[in-house]
Amino acid sequence: MATRLKRDRKSSARKTRFHKTTPIPAKHFLSDKVSHFTESVIREMTRQAMLYNAVNLAQGFPDFSAPAEIKHAAKDSIAADVNQYAITWGAKNLRNAIARQMGVWQAITVDPEKEITVCCGSTEAMISTLLAVCNAEDEVVIFEPFYENYGPDSVLSGAKPKFVKLRPPKDDSGEWTFDEKELRRAFDKHTKAIILNTPNNPTGKVFTRAELELIRDLCLEFNVLAITDEIYEHILYDGTQHISMASLDGMRERTVTINGMSKTYSVTGWRVGWAVAPEKITNAIRKVHDFLTVGAPAPLQEAGATALSLPPEYYLKLAEGYRVRRDQLVPALAAAGFRCFQPRGAYYVMTDISKFGFRDDVSFSKYLVEDIGVACVPGSSFYRDPRDGAKQVRFAFCKKPETLDEAARRLGKLARK
Ligand SMILES: Cc1ncc(COP(=O)(O)O)c(C=O)c1O
Repeated sequence: MATRLKRDRKSSARKTRFHKTTPIPAKHFLSDKVSHFTESVIREMTRQAMLYNAVNLAQGFPDFSAPAEIKHAAKDSIAADVNQYAITWGAKNLRNAIARQMGVWQAITVDPEKEITVCCGSTEAMISTLLAVCNAEDEVVIFEPFYENYGPDSVLSGAKPKFVKLRPPKDDSGEWTFDEKELRRAFDKHTKAIILNTPNNPTGKVFTRAELELIRDLCLEFNVLAITDEIYEHILYDGTQHISMASLDGMRERTVTINGMSKTYSVTGWRVGWAVAPEKITNAIRKVHDFLTVGAPAPLQEAGATALSLPPEYYLKLAEGYRVRRDQLVPALAAAGFRCFQPRGAYYVMTDISKFGFRDDVSFSKYLVEDIGVACVPGSSFYRDPRDGAKQVRFAFCKKPETLDEAARRLGKLARK
């Protein structure tokens, strides 16, 4: 036996040597799908920020503390041995809290037993939803500029993204708008879903009731599902109001509402998010979710139930804190020569860099991170055609006042080329 084993080893060693010399075509082991997209530019900019010791205004994660109550709740859950798999589609306490809060915030009645899937972040909720609803040949309508995950998400789920432009405001106090006719043209018999992100990353647009009703009417006319990413639901400025698509007449049965803890509770690393959908769609999402990840972190889901029980003042303070940060960064950017598109929600500002005279957004972002010491995200990463974002970059202001001050100080050195 031992000898045979030895002989086997020898022969396999010979084989290994042989195979090592056999050239393997570069794409031999790879799925064609992955050739259709690159790694995240946003996450790459964070790595660049670390490399050049730059102030990271690229990726949207807070550099300040999460609320003490929820950190204690997480520690308590681990100490109480909530350390094994939670129910695949989410811990009961958290699902109950999500259903309760959707009632309070948006007057939407949700059955926590049948209509909620807790996932590893809203990122997983989005890809699980698209995998659960899309077939090859299906088309998904996406407003652009768009949060960069939606492109690869559509490709991975086999669907074809169809982009509709959001146009920047003409003057400084204006809003991002879309053309009704262009949106209508994007809908046809192949359209399975529209992805809608409000409050919006990267533009800061908060879709109005009239705009949502227009989208609703198209969804009803073409029998289309709305998949809404509402992760910035509580980060609103200037009296804007967040309206969930599912709260509109006729939409409850054809909307998947995606949300999560990352932004509202400043815990982007916890990876807890959820999808709320009618029962049949939820069953499909739950199946995909189960085989993708089994479940989100159990102790952090319990802490999530505590987070969703914070008093209403918490949300007012959150929005006001971000309003102050916005009003700190935007004037500093304007003073440095950027044209800023004033955000009405979320915690990003899209800017126009035409004045600096760079070839494109990528060369400008490289200069900014390497020579000025501030990381931003090149605008092209939010568009299908990079040329559309070649004169734009995005800054995140979910940072401490001193971080924003330091960024402003460095941006002061920005010489107009
Ligand atoms: C619009 C949008 N959706 C989803 C996410 C990711 O959310 P999560 O951390 O819940 O996966 C982000 C993060 O920046 C985002 O901007």
